Amino acid sequence: MRAFVVSETNGHLSCDVREVEPLPVDDDDVLVKVEYSGVNFKDVMVASAPSRVRRRATLVGGVDAAGVVARSPDSDLSPGTAVAVHGGNLGVERDGGFAPFVFASRRQLSVLPPTVSTREAMIIGTAGFTAMASVLALEDEGLQPGAQVLVTGATGGVGSHAVTYLALRGYAPVASTGWPEATSWLLDRGAVRVVGRSELSDRPDRTLGSELWNGAIDCVGGETLHQVLRSLRYGSAVAACGVMAGGDLSTTIYPFITRAVTLVGVDAVEASDATRQRVWRALGELAPRVDFASLIDRVITLEGVAGALEDVRAGTTRGRVLVQLD
Ligand SMILES: NC(=O)c1ccc[n+]([C@@H]2O[C@H](COP(=O)([O-])OP(=O)(O)OC[C@H]3O[C@@H](n4cnc5c(N)ncnc54)[C@H](OP(=O)(O)O)[C@@H]3O)[C@@H](O)[C@H]2O)c1
Repeated sequence: MRAFVVSETNGHLSCDVREVEPLPVDDDDVLVKVEYSGVNFKDVMVASAPSRVRRRATLVGGVDAAGVVARSPDSDLSPGTAVAVHGGNLGVERDGGFAPFVFASRRQLSVLPPTVSTREAMIIGTAGFTAMASVLALEDEGLQPGAQVLVTGATGGVGSHAVTYLALRGYAPVASTGWPEATSWLLDRGAVRVVGRSELSDRPDRTLGSELWNGAIDCVGGETLHQVLRSLRYGSAVAACGVMAGGDLSTTIYPFITRAVTLVGVDAVEASDATRQRVWRALGELAPRVDFASLIDRVITLEGVAGALEDVRAGTTRGRVLVQLD
């Protein structure tokens, strides 16, 4: 089969479409016929040399895939079942979804709700899964309908889905972006307001800023997360899921002990089966009301993956880049 392969030899990186043989890692792997994949920021990190996340010198890229079961050792997973494949070491250590077939461990498979097609599943992808997991995490912390929720990195995959889902679930998302030209696009996704990256908090001379947000989904980390923490309302929470501005967090203890703020970590990679089922169920309930077409940056074939990775690296995509394998 033809697949998009990332290969590093003596520090030299090559990324191209070439012939490879699909191979299982374990005897009980499930073979999935991939219909769609999607490009994530993590794929950019995999297609880098050196790479902080890639754990093999050569592999088929793609941390996301959706398709139908072609062959399964499990009787409860019959051929033709529509599934999403993501998480664990997919596209990081074992061959990923930028290919017409992928072998996946049962742990990486989620049976799709009947309301979600394989195409829609990859418009959602790991980004949308993470966005919904973040929304549910805030609800677990007591987020109330109508609440004003800040979303940072709002034009990205996770951010744009978070804005969309929050709006459809009855909250008032405030989108933070470094891309003012995207304002009307974000308002169309359901944002009640769009703010710049430097407008997340006020009173820079004080330890804490004004109490501005009833909750937040932070896709950026670093200084941005610090500013979010110092501007959350009493008793509210931030779901932290991204590291676009770096992995270091320099902040103070005061939001936690004087405003009872909660910092919730969100992880899509090692999410438990129960979490995966809960998140996909919530996505399935919302799907009939989601304008999926508006969340696509573009649809490409395997030949377009290398260019798309560069655009995601440069931050010039808006929404999801969908890879069609058929
Ligand atoms: N926790 C998990 O399991 C999980 C799962 C998926 C993704 N992630 C992480 O979540 C983050 C977002 O992923 P994604 O797929 O949405 O990426 P993406 O599509 O590339 O979007 C990231 C967005 O962040 C903003 N941004 C980029 N560079 C920035 C910078 N230096 N400072 C501030 N903002 C910046 C941009 O939005 P604006 O211009 O609108 O600000 C950009 O569109 C990544 O760090 C990714 O690794 C984590």
